[in-house]
Amino acid sequence: MTTTFLICAPQFEQILADELALFAMTAEQSGPDWVLANRPSQEFNALFSIREFCFARHILDQPLEQPLASLPALAQTLCDFFCDSIKGEKIDGPWPLSIQAVGTAGLSKEKIQAVTELFLARLKKAVARVAKLAKVADHLPSGFHRGLFVQMIDTQKVFISRQCWSGGQRRMQFKSEAPSRSYLKVEEAYAILGTAPRQGETVVDLGAAPGGWSYSAAERGARVTAVDNGPLKDGARDHPLIEHLREDAFDFKPSPKTKTDWLFCDLVEEPHHVLRMIKHWLTILGCRYFIVNLKFGRSDPIQLLSQIYDQKTGLASYCESLRVRHLYHDREEITLMGNTEK
Ligand SMILES: C[S@@+](CC[C@H](N)C(=O)[O-])C[C@H]1O[C@@H](n2cnc3c(N)ncnc32)[C@H](O)[C@@H]1O
Repeated sequence: MTTTFLICAPQFEQILADELALFAMTAEQSGPDWVLANRPSQEFNALFSIREFCFARHILDQPLEQPLASLPALAQTLCDFFCDSIKGEKIDGPWPLSIQAVGTAGLSKEKIQAVTELFLARLKKAVARVAKLAKVADHLPSGFHRGLFVQMIDTQKVFISRQCWSGGQRRMQFKSEAPSRSYLKVEEAYAILGTAPRQGETVVDLGAAPGGWSYSAAERGARVTAVDNGPLKDGARDHPLIEHLREDAFDFKPSPKTKTDWLFCDLVEEPHHVLRMIKHWLTILGCRYFIVNLKFGRSDPIQLLSQIYDQKTGLASYCESLRVRHLYHDREEITLMGNTEK
């Protein structure tokens, strides 16, 4: 068995522990915002061969668990660990350095910065060339990273690893002109997807009101059909690129000849019902990219994930790429994003 350390959103530790079963993993310990798990011994990357994690934000591979004494002592531990682990490894490009504190660790930004500086000063003395290539990373984009990753979970314990997978979740900047805070979700989804609507593209936004997602696409120059019985707010209501249709999203049928570039869906509706409609869109109605938020509420999110990834009946088989994340800005929700064409 191999250990794996996972970080999640506050209060989602049990859901993350439940999600582990989909990866043949078992939770060993957990605390505020983290779960320590066992996995069958296998390559880290192989864990993600069928699907990625939804509720994990960061995952550290085979972390070293150390007691946390003082900041200088931690910096020395990190330096010793790092220098030992790079023996025989050729490092000739930038590498990410991420030191974070989760849950109740209560370490201030200043202290984290102090450890970072102490560590880099020690590393410079040991291997100046490698120290120069360190890139302090506040945010790790979605995917695998090799560098140095440190998570302090309380004032006494720290987990250290050279390998990390990131779900790419991150806090986004709100724009005061945006009609709703939902705007943050779609912006975060673009960042994970690595693309966003462009000038001249078309968007169908189901459950659009008050208009945050529509606004975000229209601001990028896309033409939006916003479908919702409810009213749009300023910013979206008067936007020349947004057409508001007061219709039920389940009855909305786009023109059969034109494939929409983007399908957005943020309906407050039963998630299985929404999933069935999305499957219909992906198979028949057509869209190139999609961003869909499912509000799981009282439904079991793990069962929902199983359904999404079901090899015969799930969505994955209709997608060129599919990512499902519990976004930084999601609450009792998950967000699906992907594309249907190469
Ligand atoms: C969370 S809000 C959407 C927020 C929006 N994405 C934004 O950025 O402002 C959910 C919306 O779904 C709409 N809705 C729920 N069921 C619907 C349905 N069957 N057809 C159309 N809209 C629906 C509600 O009227 C509500 O405006």
